[in-house]
Amino acid sequence: MPRERTGTELLRPDPDGIARAVERLQRGGLVAFPTETVYGLGADAADAVAVAGIYAAKGRPRFNPLIAHLPGLDAARLQGRLDETALRLAERFWPGPLTLVVPVAATCTVCDLARAGLDSVALRVPAHPLAEALLSSFGGPIVAPSANRSGHVSPTEAAHVLADLGGRIGAVLDGGSTRVGLESTIVACFDDEPRLLRPGGIARESLEAVLGQPLSGDADTADRPRAPGQLLSHYAPGAAVRLDADRIRPGEAVLLFGAARPAGLETAGMVLNLSPEGDLAEAAARLFAALRRLDQTNPEAIAVAPIPFEGLGEAINDRLRRAAADR
Ligand code: TXA
Ligand code: MG
Repeated sequence: MPRERTGTELLRPDPDGIARAVERLQRGGLVAFPTETVYGLGADAADAVAVAGIYAAKGRPRFNPLIAHLPGLDAARLQGRLDETALRLAERFWPGPLTLVVPVAATCTVCDLARAGLDSVALRVPAHPLAEALLSSFGGPIVAPSANRSGHVSPTEAAHVLADLGGRIGAVLDGGSTRVGLESTIVACFDDEPRLLRPGGIARESLEAVLGQPLSGDADTADRPRAPGQLLSHYAPGAAVRLDADRIRPGEAVLLFGAARPAGLETAGMVLNLSPEGDLAEAAARLFAALRRLDQTNPEAIAVAPIPFEGLGEAINDRLRRAAADR
């Protein structure tokens, strides 16, 4: 990979790379960085001009608020008011792929634009050594949506970021492939009534085990104005996506899971298996890169074999359903 592509600097995953990333952020620049879920496009959360640059680079609708990333729970509590339920989830799952939407704190420094004018704020403490080093060294919250053009598949490698945003952002901190591969699970915590706004890297079952009660809300009933990332056509590759395919049509690219072999597979173009062993965590980690690779072959369509709904399957099916939606 080139060190630089049309003006976007590729930063190495070492102390010098982190120092350069911090310097750029302090000057109001945009820096993409790896988290355990997907790459984020970071800016100083307190700098409205820098935040406006995120929306411009992504071509993102203004009303879609951003997640503030923090180095730990203490830093998070300066930004938002965590009720007992939120605290319990934070203590169990941070650092990790969980975002909590909570009422904004009086000491919050996340600018209005990043919160889309809401009186709530989305907080997340990522579990990735580079993200942690960047956040600790930067000092304040860094807002970061996934580092892709709005509506595209989220990036799980630095090369994906460059393909979408090369030349439009200052730098990418290269941390290789991300471990989880799906965005964080988002839970809104108001008045000790937690609601699932977006399924993601932590399975609903794991959250419910800690809460001791079922979580209200699912991908279909999630409150759209509150989680605009749930806009239906999202995470979309260029090719049409066809779900639950049990018969492949000629010229289709195919995404398999486990041992199932749909009829007509011999007429397919490229075939990828998210996890031959049927492991949903492995499938989640590979999903977005696989969609990108299949899309690059310019297939008639991308046919996707059925994937179970349990555990991380809920989030995988959520992303696939959005990729398949009319646009
Ligand atoms: O894993 C992730 O969460 C990645 C990495 C980079 O951290 N980030 C990510 O950000 O997926 P993004 O911008 O693609 O998705 C943020 C989601 C959107 O659905 C947005 O509507 C929701 O968070 N959100 C942000 N602030 C909110 C708020 N105050 N109330 C409700 N939803 C909010
Ligand atoms: Mg996104």
